[in-house]
Amino acid sequence: QPVRLEDYRPAPYRIDTVDLDIRLDPQATQVTARLRLARNEGTAAGTPLVLDGDGLTLTGLALDGRPLPGTAYAARPDRLDLFSPPAEPFDLEIVTRLDPDSNTALMGLYRSSGTWCTQCEAEGFRRITYFLDRPDVLAVYTTRLEAPKHEAPVLLANGNPVDAGEIPDSDRHYAVWHDPHPKPSYLFALVAGDLARVTDRFVTRSGRPVDLAIYVEHGKEDHCGWAMESLKRSMAWDEAAFGCEYDLDVFNIVAVSDFNMGAMENKGLNIFNDKYVLADPDTATDQDYAHIEAVIAHEYFHNWTGNRITCRDWFQLCLKEGLTVFRDQEFTSDMRSRPVKRIADVRLLKSHQFPEDAGPLAHPVRPKTYREINNFYTATVYEKGAEVVRMLKILVGDDAFRSGMDLYLRRHDATAATIEDFLACFAEASGEDLTQFALWYEQAGTPQVTASSRYDGDARTFALTLSQQLPPVAGQGEGKPAAIPIRFALIGPNGQDMAYDRTSGGAVSGDVIHLTERSQTIVFSGVSQRPVPSLLRGFSAPVRLETDLDPHDLLFLTRHDGDPFNRWQAVQELATRDLVRLSAAAQAGEPLRPDAAFVTALGEILDDERLDAAFRAQALHLPGEADIAREIGRNVDPDAILAARTALRKAIARAHGDACAETVLDLAPTTVFSPDAASAGRRALKNLALGYVAVSGLPDAADMVIRQFDTADNMTDRLAALTILVHEGIDGADEALAAFRDRHARHALAIDKWFTVQATRPADATPAAVRALTGDEGFDWGNPNRVRSLVNAFATGNQTQFARTDGAGFDLVAEAVLQLDERNPQVAARLLSAFRSWRALEPVRARRAEAALHRIAARETLSKDARDIVDRCLQ
Ligand code: ARG
Ligand code: ZN
Repeated sequence: QPVRLEDYRPAPYRIDTVDLDIRLDPQATQVTARLRLARNEGTAAGTPLVLDGDGLTLTGLALDGRPLPGTAYAARPDRLDLFSPPAEPFDLEIVTRLDPDSNTALMGLYRSSGTWCTQCEAEGFRRITYFLDRPDVLAVYTTRLEAPKHEAPVLLANGNPVDAGEIPDSDRHYAVWHDPHPKPSYLFALVAGDLARVTDRFVTRSGRPVDLAIYVEHGKEDHCGWAMESLKRSMAWDEAAFGCEYDLDVFNIVAVSDFNMGAMENKGLNIFNDKYVLADPDTATDQDYAHIEAVIAHEYFHNWTGNRITCRDWFQLCLKEGLTVFRDQEFTSDMRSRPVKRIADVRLLKSHQFPEDAGPLAHPVRPKTYREINNFYTATVYEKGAEVVRMLKILVGDDAFRSGMDLYLRRHDATAATIEDFLACFAEASGEDLTQFALWYEQAGTPQVTASSRYDGDARTFALTLSQQLPPVAGQGEGKPAAIPIRFALIGPNGQDMAYDRTSGGAVSGDVIHLTERSQTIVFSGVSQRPVPSLLRGFSAPVRLETDLDPHDLLFLTRHDGDPFNRWQAVQELATRDLVRLSAAAQAGEPLRPDAAFVTALGEILDDERLDAAFRAQALHLPGEADIAREIGRNVDPDAILAARTALRKAIARAHGDACAETVLDLAPTTVFSPDAASAGRRALKNLALGYVAVSGLPDAADMVIRQFDTADNMTDRLAALTILVHEGIDGADEALAAFRDRHARHALAIDKWFTVQATRPADATPAAVRALTGDEGFDWGNPNRVRSLVNAFATGNQTQFARTDGAGFDLVAEAVLQLDERNPQVAARLLSAFRSWRALEPVRARRAEAALHRIAARETLSKDARDIVDRCLQ
């Protein structure tokens, strides 16, 4: 039965302190938890205490120092009931025994390459000991770890180190850590193993010295430099941007190779998927460098937004995640190019969150109900959650936003808060009524905004009509109108933003139109010439915008819009319209004739040296196949979409092949590799141009790609060339794959890229190739990174092969889901959600997908995680 937000009740008991004594052993770890408990106000004396468990074995239980008789409690793997606890505060000592080696779900305490580590968010602490495993129970933790010295010379837990030593007459040693900041159980962590350490130091602005350390496998020390630099930049940025200072004497990061997600913000002891820590030019791409910088920042920023202020319950997940994603996006914008970062984030939002919001897995940013909370770490909670914070900032203004944040950080420090608490701070700081704005947290689905306009030259007026509509999704009825901030400008024939005298009929303040009704018409007067409206600048709201701008207007915007985001958006809009048209033609078996005016405009952008390289790369990067499918929305035929996209790419390549080849030569590396944003932007443009060269028909096209593959001194260039060779089926692709494999054989994260290149190849042979690769010696079903880079990459990055008409793609993924589910439900459920857009497919493919889903649903022993997703997909 689902958990419902409206059923929230505070816990009957509180836990003030937790003392853990953990004796680590591969198969028989003993955990002794001493809890100081007390009745909460309003709890009647004698109210039973019910603690959460998950697969636990109880081996001892004592109350105030005395063992409890069997009649006083009931212990099951999933709960511990104490029938009548004392009325006064009491101590409970709980002893459990765990088997970390057989923990393949990677939740709770497990081992990764011999290192003991933990993952407790969302409900993993209950796999370690019985507890009130909910985020509103905050306690002060002291953790003693004991392990064999040779196996685990490094012993880490949350907080500051307070004691360490040897156990006499044994090969064991111990360490004690104390975390003075009260925290929920999901932020608990320990790490024990034989790890190398890279250290540095940061002094906070009020003078607190902090010892920084990154722990990695021996031999990987020199791949930690970028992560450490990113950490120091994050710490300085959070002080400057939000006044948030670090609050412990140490900050530790550990990289592990088996990890269900990206990383985890455990207090003072962040645990990372090694993919988001390790980087050197030979094995990491520019994208990897950017991700590392962003994820290090994200986890660090959680120290305030997440840890000092945590969530009252899991429905409030976006309180910490949406806000922290917003903060890491702002950090990256300050470190790199703000417009390019915005474009990248909007691309991600549209490709991941929009489809989620349009299908059976749609849910509000703050869900109202869940069956398995791990299935709600979604693009909607994270990315749309960040968009909502971004809109809030537009709505209240920069100054009130900052004072609202200050108020939030002060008022709710050391508590577990709600979205209402958060919004109240901004309402107070700004004096605005945020009632309508709060709907962004309540309603699922992407609002559709339609804009149309009329210029009256005699009256010198420009009338703009905006209307909004929320499509019905996932069982949600018709929605209420949302508060949508639309940044805009009116652009005159000279390409400059135009002035006007005044407006009537709608709320315009500065450069923002506030759309709050179903439909509003704003009349601008004193408009001397017909303007082209530039709407939703900077993507000021997460909506789909449909305008009545004709191709001529859009071309005008691609040349003149002063807002770089909207300039990019105009290019995308033209590309999308053409690709949707070409897809329909392909589906109808008609000839494909790409739009020549658009192709010309792209050439201008490619040649425009006033635009920075990263921006030009974003502009020349056509919408992906999934983006086109989303725009088409129904009766989707992925083969037609691929044909359309290929035709447009070829037309661009034929028209601008020489210019692209020149770009490749001009931007060829001349200095030693540097991962900075400007250099990365040049590589992005060069590699995009190389992709066009490959399909240009130029006589030396293949040679150029092979030459880059052979001579590249960095992973970005090598992988770009390899991908082109393999995906375009160029002679030499097989040799290149073999060479890549040899070169990186001992580097799992590089081999992941080798898996992905092959899994995403749009060719009939791919499903069989993927099956064969699961037998590769570098593949491991137990490692989430391997599974994601091969199977998830196939399911989400290869539209035509995943959605084959013969069902072979769906079958492959369904089998993988069933196989994974027994071992790691979270990873299985994530893979399964690749089916979420199946109903939008044309009937033959849709029936194949449905059959595969039914086969999964038929397994009776399916995990709660997978059951939840498959049921919603079939609903
Ligand atoms: N809080 C982590 C982060 O955003 C992610 C934890 C994901 N947990 C999960 N069970 N999926 O950085
Ligand atoms: Zn997070």
